[in-house]
Amino acid sequence: MYPLIRNRRLRTSDAIRHLVRETIITPSDFLVPIFIVEGKGVKEEIASMPNYYRMSLDVLEKEVKELWQMGLCAVLLFVKVDDQLKDNKGTEALNPDGLMQRAIKTVKNTCPEMLVMTDVALDPFSSYGHDGIVAEGQILNDETCEILAEMSVSHASAGADFVAPSDMMDGRILTIREALEDEGFQDTGIMSYSAKYASAFYGPFRDALDSAPVDIKDVPKDKKTYQMDSANRFEAIKETQQDIDEGADIVMVKPGLCYLDIVREIKNEVDVPVAVYQVSGEYAMVKAAAEKGWLDHDSVMMEQLIAIKRAGANIIASYFAKDAVKLM
Ligand code: PBG
Repeated sequence: MYPLIRNRRLRTSDAIRHLVRETIITPSDFLVPIFIVEGKGVKEEIASMPNYYRMSLDVLEKEVKELWQMGLCAVLLFVKVDDQLKDNKGTEALNPDGLMQRAIKTVKNTCPEMLVMTDVALDPFSSYGHDGIVAEGQILNDETCEILAEMSVSHASAGADFVAPSDMMDGRILTIREALEDEGFQDTGIMSYSAKYASAFYGPFRDALDSAPVDIKDVPKDKKTYQMDSANRFEAIKETQQDIDEGADIVMVKPGLCYLDIVREIKNEVDVPVAVYQVSGEYAMVKAAAEKGWLDHDSVMMEQLIAIKRAGANIIASYFAKDAVKLM
């Protein structure tokens, strides 16, 4: 008696394992998040994100060249703005000479072929740390959409290829699409954070940008009235389908690892590219466990990235992009 089928034949050597491997990560899968600050020669490590930095525009130039040489061809820009520039309406976000607008130009001047995506949301500019305007204990929806549309046009004018609204207001994709078309930016794309959950995994990111919601009377200190409940699945499909109907070119699920069931379901459901954001808390967990010697950093990192792609991600936004490419 012997087994009729011996699956282990396909696992006997590196060569055969490579030959039959179903999922392969390449540098062009990645979207690299970058945190930008004012100043000169600034490259400061984010305490809760070891080996990840906030950088000034001159350092950004070097970074972009390095990324391009590594085969990383898309960046997602975030800015950390001074507290005194923040207000409830995120006015600074519309400054044509603001940090984001200058960052977009810096990347495009340094490396014109690099794809530039920009975060569109009020929180880094909001004195309350919310993704929308706060009024009478609420986060205003429609008024916020108007500002997001203006922000998108401002980023497009500065040279952004794609805007990436991460706010979860209702109807913002349509408002943004219309504004871009009206202003002649028909080729500027929208990558929508379509299924963005109210997750505790965003903690280190909020440290990086100093953008956590603050204590205000009668306003919740979390984002649960606009970001999704982690318990929900059907809602993710609905949100995503709506964003596509409103004109999103790429949709995104966020965070990554805990939501790979959602990624697969959306991938099966839609015919636009699906992005996944492996967020700051996911990065921090691996770094912390590796620092303690409890996990092997590189193996765990690659296993997670492969899992994200296997689940259906066409694009992976990840703080591990450079680490991963160095291993390839
Ligand atoms: C802001 C935004 C957040 C992230 C991306 N864009 C934070 C939030 O919604 O509070 C999180 C990214 C990460 O944790 O890596 N709208």
